[in-house]
Parts: sequence; C-alpha cells; structure tokens
Amino acid sequence: MNIPKRHLLAWAIALAVAPWAHAQSDNTVKIGLILPMTGQQASTGRQIEAAVKLWQAQNGTKAGGKTVEVIIKDDAAVPDTTRRLAQELVVNDKVAVLAGFGITPAAMATAPIATQSKTPMIVMAAATSAITEASPFIVRTSFTLPQATVPIAEWAAKNGIKKAVSLVADYGPGFDAEKYFDSQFRLNGGQMLDKLRTPLRGPDFAPVLQKVRDLSPDALFVFLPSGQGAQFMKQFGERGLDKAGIRLIATGDVTDDDQLNDMGDVALGVVNSHHYSAAHPSAVNKKFVDAFQAANKFRPNFMAVGGYDGMRVIYNALNATKGQGGEALLNAMKGQLFESPRGQVLIDAQTRDIVQDVYIRKVERVNGQLWNVEFDVQKAVKDPGKLK
Ligand code: PHB
Repeated sequence: MNIPKRHLLAWAIALAVAPWAHAQSDNTVKIGLILPMTGQQASTGRQIEAAVKLWQAQNGTKAGGKTVEVIIKDDAAVPDTTRRLAQELVVNDKVAVLAGFGITPAAMATAPIATQSKTPMIVMAAATSAITEASPFIVRTSFTLPQATVPIAEWAAKNGIKKAVSLVADYGPGFDAEKYFDSQFRLNGGQMLDKLRTPLRGPDFAPVLQKVRDLSPDALFVFLPSGQGAQFMKQFGERGLDKAGIRLIATGDVTDDDQLNDMGDVALGVVNSHHYSAAHPSAVNKKFVDAFQAANKFRPNFMAVGGYDGMRVIYNALNATKGQGGEALLNAMKGQLFESPRGQVLIDAQTRDIVQDVYIRKVERVNGQLWNVEFDVQKAVKDPGKLK
C-alpha cells in the first residue's frame, strides 16, 4: 500500500481523532519496531531484535501499568517499505511508539508520519545528524556521525598523521563523517589529499583502495555502515595497504563488534572512535554482554545498545505517564539520564538527541579474541551537528 502525498492530510485528520482512545481501552501498549531483518543491513535488525527481547526478558512486559507488546516488521532497509509499514502500524495496529530504523533514509521517510500522528519515534540505529530535526516526535538512542567522527579526527592530527584521505558511504551519515573529519582534521593542522565515496548498496572497494594506495597518505579515515566493515577490511589487507604503511583509522562502525572477531590480523591496531564497545569496562556493560551472549551466541554491537536503551527510554516514559501516549509520552522521554552499557547518557530535552561519551579505541587481541579496547574518552559529547 503506497499512500499518495495528497492523502496524507486526510490521514492526519483521521489520526487526530485520538487513536489513543482505542489503545487505552484495552490494557496494552504497542511498539511498532521496524527493522531490516533481511537484505544488506540484516545484522542491524538481528542485533536490535535480540536487544529488545533481552530488555523484555530482564524487565518484564509491563510498564506504566500496561502490557507492552512489540510488533516487529521487516523493511529490508527499503525506505518506501518503512513508510508503508509505519502507516499500517499507526493506523491499523494503533501503536503508541514507532521504533527501530536501521538506516537514515528509512528514518527520514517515516518522520512525517510520526509528526502527523503525534507518535513518538525512537531512532535506535540511524545516525545522520539531521534526523532529529525531521520531526519533533523523534528521539534518538543511537549516536550521530559528527559525534563519533570529531574525536578520531582530533586524535589523528595530534598523533603524527599529517596527510589523510577519507572514504565514506555515499549517503547521509557518510556526508556527515566526511564533513566533520575534514573540518576537525584540518583545524588541528592536518591536510586532506582526497575524499572518496562508495555506494551504500553493493560497494566495490577495489577501485577506491587502489586510488588510496596511489595517493599514499599517512592514514585513510573510513566510515561505512554496520555490516560492511569485514568486507572492507579484507580488501584493505588483500591490496596490501597496511603493508604500504597507510594507517587505517575509522569510526567504530567499521570495527563493528558484530564482525570484528572474524576480521583477523588486518584489524589489529586500527584506532577508531565510537560510543560503544562490547569491551567497555563497567559492571553494567559486563552484565549486559554476558546476558546478551548467553541468550544469542553472538556479541552485542552498538546497534544492540541503541535498541536496549531505546526500550529503556520507552519503559521509563510509560512509567512516568502511567501508560499515556502521544505528546505526554514524548515529553517524558526528554531529559532522561541513565547509565547505559556504553556509559552515562542523556536524552537532550531540547534536541531529543543523545549526549554521550565517545571513546578512542584500538583493536587488540585479548584472550584470543579481537576487541575495541578503549584508551581515551571525550566526555558528554553533544551532537556537533546541532551546534551550528
Ligand atoms: C545510517 O544509515 O544512518 C547508519 C547505518 C549504519 C551505521 C551508521 C549509520 O553504522
């Protein structure tokens, strides 16, 4: 079902007639969780689904006096599908919350539906800065690319890297990473030799890696969405860039905990910055990782933590509103402060975006496994994309 734009107003009016009247008549609150369960972003869906299930296994299915029912839908990371599923979830299922959103275009396509239906929309994965500005009903529990990129750009310039090339996926989060790496690296005295991009779908890294080899920078900075890191790393090694003395630096999306352990020696020593490592040394994280691995037989990555914390934000808000939805529920999400497996986080009440620590990490082998080992931190980083 594809709804033409001109019909959206009629939908908006229909929806304004308090879908909550229905939802409140029974004692269930529904969350419509839209994830890429198939296709190239399927690891994101698998991680978030597992985290949401873990949250409910640990915290029960009741919040604000209601039973919380999660309805999972697979959008295969196709934005038209995301939008259609969101419409159906709001109109037919009368969900109180939309959640998930594996990639930026999926979140952007859904934003107008959240606005028109006054449904809080929790972005658990997508990370382009501008997403939270697309609807006043969006709250983000993942991260932003400017947030993750600025610390590694600064680290690089201050640690002997003078000339760099950037390589990013050719869409929203890649543009953010490219822009914020460029400005922060140059601000700290670095020089950019080139800025390269690969397509979101089915990228071939061979031609760009050849180009990087020819340019011979001190370092290559990379952002690729979760799921592409292992393939990239393999080709980086096969083309001998590591042996040619070109350092690889990245956002933690590339050294993703979902794939890191299978990447092999080529990943060793890669310095990267991100908001979550499964190796984060806190009691809260250890408990999270142990429970997650016991339930799933795979390691949680940053997507899992975005999903887990997203559930916490929803549960906290439902408890505060006693199960009431709409704008009241949204308002109860703003300003939440809690200890996540990643560290202390805040949902900024003005921007509805997440404020969090960003860590500088190095891939190391510990007890036979590869981990992102944190060795430095920038505390309480607000999305630099909002500081314009
Ligand atoms: C996004 O599309 O916003 C996105 C997806 C995967 C990532 C980061 C950002 O790892």
